[in-house]
Amino acid sequence: MRNIGLIAASAMLLLAVGACDGSKKAATGGKEGATLETAGAVTPVPLPDSPSFPVPAATINGWIANSDTAAIRAHAWSLWQAMTAPSGQSVNNQQLPIWDTWADTSVVFPQPQATNASLTAEQAKPSPGRKFFKPAQFHHTRDARLKALATAAADNFPLAVDSKYDPPAATFIGGPQAGPGGGTYSYASGASLTKLNAAWPTGTTPQNRAINEFPIRAIETKPVFGLVKANGLTAQPLWQGPSASTNAGNPTPDTWTTCVLIQPGATGAVRPATSAEINAGAVSVQAQGLACKTFLWAPLSTFYAAQLNAAEAQNFNAATGVSGPAAAAAGDYSVLLAMHVNTKEIPFWTWQTYWWQPGADTPNNFPGSKQGQPGALGGPWNNYASCTAYDQTTTPGGSTMQVCFNPYLETSPGIPAGVTSNCVSCHGVALVGPNPNYPANYNKPIVFFTDPTYFNTQSTHTDFSWAVASAP
Ligand code: HEC
Repeated sequence: MRNIGLIAASAMLLLAVGACDGSKKAATGGKEGATLETAGAVTPVPLPDSPSFPVPAATINGWIANSDTAAIRAHAWSLWQAMTAPSGQSVNNQQLPIWDTWADTSVVFPQPQATNASLTAEQAKPSPGRKFFKPAQFHHTRDARLKALATAAADNFPLAVDSKYDPPAATFIGGPQAGPGGGTYSYASGASLTKLNAAWPTGTTPQNRAINEFPIRAIETKPVFGLVKANGLTAQPLWQGPSASTNAGNPTPDTWTTCVLIQPGATGAVRPATSAEINAGAVSVQAQGLACKTFLWAPLSTFYAAQLNAAEAQNFNAATGVSGPAAAAAGDYSVLLAMHVNTKEIPFWTWQTYWWQPGADTPNNFPGSKQGQPGALGGPWNNYASCTAYDQTTTPGGSTMQVCFNPYLETSPGIPAGVTSNCVSCHGVALVGPNPNYPANYNKPIVFFTDPTYFNTQSTHTDFSWAVASAP
């Protein structure tokens, strides 16, 4: 119980420098906030309340208890439909879907002054403009060997993330949070979380060493972006399951053997590519070092896409480490390859993920499909398949594990056993403290928050948020 005064004082200081609400103003300081508004910055639009959001926890827990996969998938699709609905706000004359108005990592987790130098000019700048980051997930693991493999693999196929938080989640993370020792803390700050973790009274159980829970309307998303060149045909790997990869154990996108040649400005449905198109696309396959053997063709409009300005293109290249002919330039397109989404409608969150899947479903529908999409879901959003993991196991208390992962993310060699993973097991072990790590495998459910492999009296679990656990 020592140093409480000091902890409280530091927390106050933190709040005074503007970590007290999740808005852009808080993150950038009052003065820049004003500039932002005059620059026509986007105002985050919350997901409207409706019969499908937020669904009462008892209803969702009923679906889980009855293994009602159809109801769970229908909920994932109605979230997708609501999040992708037009927001009424535009950037460069393009209307943003609701989720794309939400505050991103650069706003919700402002970098402390000391490490600002590590950001590119574009990342450090307030919105508007997309910020791209290499997925921390690929190199989060403390295992040096896996980390090296993962970094190499991530660089082989250039993708970047720009996690986004709906207004209730952003406000919660940035807002003042009461915690141990009577202190006030900010979950947007690694330093503040370290103090929180040190402030638990002796004897506090691992179970009780927890941050406060997010509000039920909290939604976190992790959109994943790739690149389509403005000119020519860009080869885009298409997920067709681990067997259509040159590396079934870690089928990262650069190992997928089916590719789609993407043509900006064209219209039409996905179809087999002509030999002339395959010849023209060879440049792109080679520049990206892809494993394509089977080729399809599709227009750019099968993606949610936005043209990059020079700063965004530079930022994309910095995040992905790509140079040479495959690098982004002004006028090229960032395309939405995939998106993770979780909502706090139930205590352990709902988990769903979406990935680009134009045309037919992947053989065997593994790990998910487009089945159950609402008829009213328009393009490009109906070109994405989904899977869900609302529980670690397929039946309550059962021994068959739920498998749901995103082919663009969890196939990375930096993630042990990613193709057998589920979101809940990995996010449930997110914590602040010494050596947080990923589950080594998904052979059995993890007992939250008492399993001694993960939870101990040196750590604080972060309500399933790896982003909070790794706050800067
Ligand atoms: C092996 C561990 C692991 C698995 C499996 C995993 N994630 Fe994550 N996730 C992370 C880490 C680490 C981050 C931190 C940020 C990053 O990578 O950019 C993260 C970030 C996120 C975020 C951004 C907000 C936050 O809490 O950090 C969302 C949303 C998310 N994941 C959802 C999902 C969903 C949905 C699934 C399942 C389809 C999933 N994750 C599977 C480790 C995992």
